[in-house]
Amino acid sequence: MAGIIDVLLARRSVPAAMLEEPGPDAAQLQKILTAGARVPDHGKLAPWRFIVFQGDTRISFGKVLADIVLKKNPDAADKQLEDERQRFARAPLVLGIISSPVEHPKVPEWEQVLSAGAACQNILIASNGLGFAAQWLTQWPAFDKDVADALNLGESDKIAGFIYIGTARNSFEDRRRPELDEITEYWTG
Ligand SMILES: Cc1cc2nc3c(=O)[nH]c(=O)nc-3n(C[C@H](O)[C@H](O)[C@H](O)COP(=O)(O)O)c2cc1C
Repeated sequence: MAGIIDVLLARRSVPAAMLEEPGPDAAQLQKILTAGARVPDHGKLAPWRFIVFQGDTRISFGKVLADIVLKKNPDAADKQLEDERQRFARAPLVLGIISSPVEHPKVPEWEQVLSAGAACQNILIASNGLGFAAQWLTQWPAFDKDVADALNLGESDKIAGFIYIGTARNSFEDRRRPELDEITEYWTG
């Protein structure tokens, strides 16, 4: 296994549509989720939770998505509905990360939301560290009230993302990365 700095310095996403089997097995999934829960968390509030979509449940959730699309647009094309049914089947495993901030006298909501973002990033890094490729997506289902209801989300819950995990089908060029001197300054007083 590559060292953590190697994983971090090579980290990149692989589009969900380019992910194929194998995905993580049960033991690897436990490691990925454990890494996701091992994030900085002011107040030890665990203001996030995870929803696992794997095997047939990816398709059953896709049917939920297709029904929501059809409800909003009865004229939706068959192709669009089929794409929704297959949306979560693009990768062997999809993890929904829910940001669940609570009212707290000392820990602002912003910090709790950041902790959920850290959980997403830990899940990406853990997946890469185990040799898998991954992509963090939101897309329309992350912002839709009917989807939130279907997932039994509470009033203050938000979907931080859906992380698609699998094996990269093929390699392709990395994107240009930010120049450090454009985003970094050294405080000199
Ligand atoms: C919160 C969040 C949501 C994202 N949602 C999308 C999305 O819906 N669609 C998309 O193409 N990329 C989305 N991305 C970007 C990809 O995850 C990825 O970062 C991007 O493709 C660039 O690849 P890289 O991670 O190798 O830099 C999102 C990133 C974040 C942090």
